[in-house]
Amino acid sequence: MAKLKILEFPDPRLKTVAEPVESFDEDLKTLVGDMLETMYSARGIGLAATQVNVHKRLLVLDVSETQDQPRVYVNPEIMEREGEQVHEEGCLSVPGIYANVKRAENIIVRALNADGEKFEEQLEGLHAVCVQHEMDHLVGRLFVDYLSPLKRNMVRKKLEKQRKAAAKEAEDHLVI
Ligand code: NI
Repeated sequence: MAKLKILEFPDPRLKTVAEPVESFDEDLKTLVGDMLETMYSARGIGLAATQVNVHKRLLVLDVSETQDQPRVYVNPEIMEREGEQVHEEGCLSVPGIYANVKRAENIIVRALNADGEKFEEQLEGLHAVCVQHEMDHLVGRLFVDYLSPLKRNMVRKKLEKQRKAAAKEAEDHLVI
């Protein structure tokens, strides 16, 4: 398995609309393994293929406390949504930024697993939030897109500052 590079806002590739997965081959299984490794090592609870610059309808997540229950959703579709919940969200592509986002409380999602087998499940709470957040990535949408343009601009500036500070620190230190 390999750790993949995660694209960060405002990288325009994050706006790409993903294509459905058509072949359930070894390459897909490798990608799923790599995405899970990338997600766990970045301490995320979800990751969409879009975020690692693969524009296929695929996401992985693990919302368990123990971080040992990986889930894979290929070509996911939300069949039904009900109610409303507001949750503070973050994103591996928008590091260090958190904001409240309104989502459906309950959803019924239909998807395929990595072997191409169909399943359908009813989700609520954080699991439902996570699937909705990751599915947004697959259509090129980030959680900061729900913020006002003013707030989004503040996020962009804050990230620029963070990146500059990190680059300066790397310059000032000898890293062997
Ligand atoms: Ni995200």
